[in-house]
Amino acid sequence: MEPVKVGLLGLGTVGGGTARVLQRNFDEIARRAGREIRIVHAAARDLPPGQIPEGAEGIPITEDAFEVVNNPDVDIVVELIGGYSPARELVMRAIANDKHVVTANKALIALYGNEIFSAAQEQGVMVAFEAAVAGGIPIIKAIREGLAANRIEWIAGIINGTGNFILTEMRDKGRSFGDVLAEAQALGYAEADPTFDVEGVDAAHKLTILAAIAFGIPLKYDRCYAEGISRISPEDVSYAQEFGYRIKHLGITRRTGSGIELRVHPTLIPQKRLIANVNGVMNAVLVKGDAVGPTLYYGAGAGSEPTASAVVADIIDVARALTSDPENRVPHLAFQPGSLADLPILSMEDVETSYYLRMNAADRPGVLAEVTGIFGKLGISIEAMKQKQPAEDETTVPIVLLTHKVAERQMNEALARIEALDAVSGPVVRIRMESLG
Ligand code: HSE
Repeated sequence: MEPVKVGLLGLGTVGGGTARVLQRNFDEIARRAGREIRIVHAAARDLPPGQIPEGAEGIPITEDAFEVVNNPDVDIVVELIGGYSPARELVMRAIANDKHVVTANKALIALYGNEIFSAAQEQGVMVAFEAAVAGGIPIIKAIREGLAANRIEWIAGIINGTGNFILTEMRDKGRSFGDVLAEAQALGYAEADPTFDVEGVDAAHKLTILAAIAFGIPLKYDRCYAEGISRISPEDVSYAQEFGYRIKHLGITRRTGSGIELRVHPTLIPQKRLIANVNGVMNAVLVKGDAVGPTLYYGAGAGSEPTASAVVADIIDVARALTSDPENRVPHLAFQPGSLADLPILSMEDVETSYYLRMNAADRPGVLAEVTGIFGKLGISIEAMKQKQPAEDETTVPIVLLTHKVAERQMNEALARIEALDAVSGPVVRIRMESLG
């Protein structure tokens, strides 16, 4: 049988890894795919002269990615450039040229996936994107195929390796935020714009994709709430530990009676949960299905060969399905395109969670009563509380509270009233909590 011909866009961290893995495991991959898989054309910009990545030797390399996309010999375009543009134009052109597409581009799929899948559907080509979520963990395949019998109830995941690496190093080694971020960048984990990692944008892209394939809804990135880790302080990490919790940056999506929760934020989770012990650049995704119960998927969430592992698996999947009837392929978003649901995405004010709160209060009689009085009036129940002795020469004391579940709207009101008290100085730190039970 003719080899399957791949056009590779991008020879950076993931593109280089893909070329290397395709070459190293060439025979094994051919045995799996039933045909050889060969890169026949590649595009890369700013490659230092003589620095051809292993696996790409002897392959024509152009600076113009459109040459690859327009090359009539190419069967599958593998887009590993990242970013919105020109990735979007390249992918749309590849589809129009009747080529199948494999991409690791979560930003592209989260924002433009609806339009891309619809064009691909019309053209009868496949767009595979396993590497877009959680690097090397085959989480798309697990949800879309392995859990296809289930009504998915919720997903909670550590889906940004850079953020998890930073939180872990800060907690275990007391390293500074900036220092760890610089290391994550040097290791090729971080996004081109690292604020995407630390402000939750990258995790929101990935969560948007997970929610779509879990609940059969269109991709709705603009409805995803995203809060990053840049305001997490060592004090909160240490208080959380005293209460038996760890702070993790989670993406959470949940089906409720009134709509879908879609939110990314730092979260206190009980330290006895397996997912609380996922450290460094590792990712983990917890998926709760009604039939299977909770299932946990763990692995490297970023990096050259872990991400290439997912890219190459997609190439093999596409190679195997090349001759199949387009109507009988696994749908891009797991559900048949005509059967997507229009469930609303809840606003954050309607989401109910428990809270960790830390405030600085004046060290004088009656202050605690004022604070707890506000919670009492608004029907917010306190689950645990700690007040530390003031440091020498300090006139304020840190008060840390854990609450029972309450709607965010109610908590916003309580915090506005507490912050307005004379006895409370500065903003109240709030971190949402999840039991993940
Ligand atoms: N910047 C991403 C991360 C890369 O750190 O998880 C993998 O998507």
